[in-house]
Amino acid sequence: MSVTIRRQERQIKHVNVDMSTKLGNLTIADPVFTASGCAASGQELAAFNDLTAIGGVVTKSIQLNARAGRATPRMAETPSGMLNSIGLQGPGIDIFLNRDLPWLAEHEVTAVVSIAGQSVEEYSKLAGKLRGKPASMIEVNISCPNVEDRGQVFACDKSAAASVIQAVKRAAPASMPIFAKLSPDVTDIVSIASACMDSGATGLSLINTTLGMVIDTTTMRPLLAGVTGGLSGPAIRPLALRCVWQVHQAMPDVPLFGIGGIRTGLDALQFILAGASAVQIGTVLFNDPGAPQRISRELSEALAERGMDSVQQAIGLGHRPPEVIVPELPEPPGDTREDELYESAVADDED
Ligand code: SIN
Repeated sequence: MSVTIRRQERQIKHVNVDMSTKLGNLTIADPVFTASGCAASGQELAAFNDLTAIGGVVTKSIQLNARAGRATPRMAETPSGMLNSIGLQGPGIDIFLNRDLPWLAEHEVTAVVSIAGQSVEEYSKLAGKLRGKPASMIEVNISCPNVEDRGQVFACDKSAAASVIQAVKRAAPASMPIFAKLSPDVTDIVSIASACMDSGATGLSLINTTLGMVIDTTTMRPLLAGVTGGLSGPAIRPLALRCVWQVHQAMPDVPLFGIGGIRTGLDALQFILAGASAVQIGTVLFNDPGAPQRISRELSEALAERGMDSVQQAIGLGHRPPEVIVPELPEPPGDTREDELYESAVADDED
């Protein structure tokens, strides 16, 4: 694909970029979504954003039963990021379906429901409860790092990940797209990604947080009550981008959500160029709750500045081969001098 990059045209007066993107059988008007866990079920963010103008809201991962989560402290600041050790606090799926999902539907917000089970059977029950409900997509959180039993991080094992996705596929509403949310804490993310796709996922959300910790040097003990937590924010952006790049390279037709430390339109553009069809915005919401609409606007301006009139044109564009520029070599000085001597000798002969 040939793209003209017009770097000089910085002063965009009116941006007319088609921001729609395809996620399975759905066409969504905008590629910027809120990430699970950072926007609850969307209500609080409505004061700062027109939630119908962004791609949609990915709700906090919901479990079968109410859960209080881990003990406090469960958040810590880190360089360019933060750690959370929430432990999937939530009201349970029934309250969510009666209270939160209807609010999103009434306000015409695209709802991506994130589900998290403690067993394959629980994932299946959660997916089944979405039948007939106004959810647009399911995000299957198989990668929460804050579970007591590391065996429950299904995304760290190919066959465990596959079993969950197969069960969700069987139980979920037939046409509802299913996105598996993967962990970066694996050696080969492409093999986990392909196990999920072979098991019936529509697409993938890349990535969840990566396991980290902080030690408080005053108390000389771990700062988080849960000892470890999930690291998010700009600190993990290069890691997330690498995962999107690798998975898109291996499976270019699979729709991907890019997630990890996105704060600006240019950050979002990096993920789209790496192969994401849409992005999710998480940690930035804690200090800039209006970020989703701002990032969407900045992304559309960045696309226009680069001569593109749709976001779909940019998906995976970073993978095109580099343009090879062959410099024109100047004439070697010796040749020119010889030509001149030859021409003057010919002229002498003719005289
Ligand atoms: C949590 O609630 O502990 C975070 C969920 C997640 O990272 O998946």
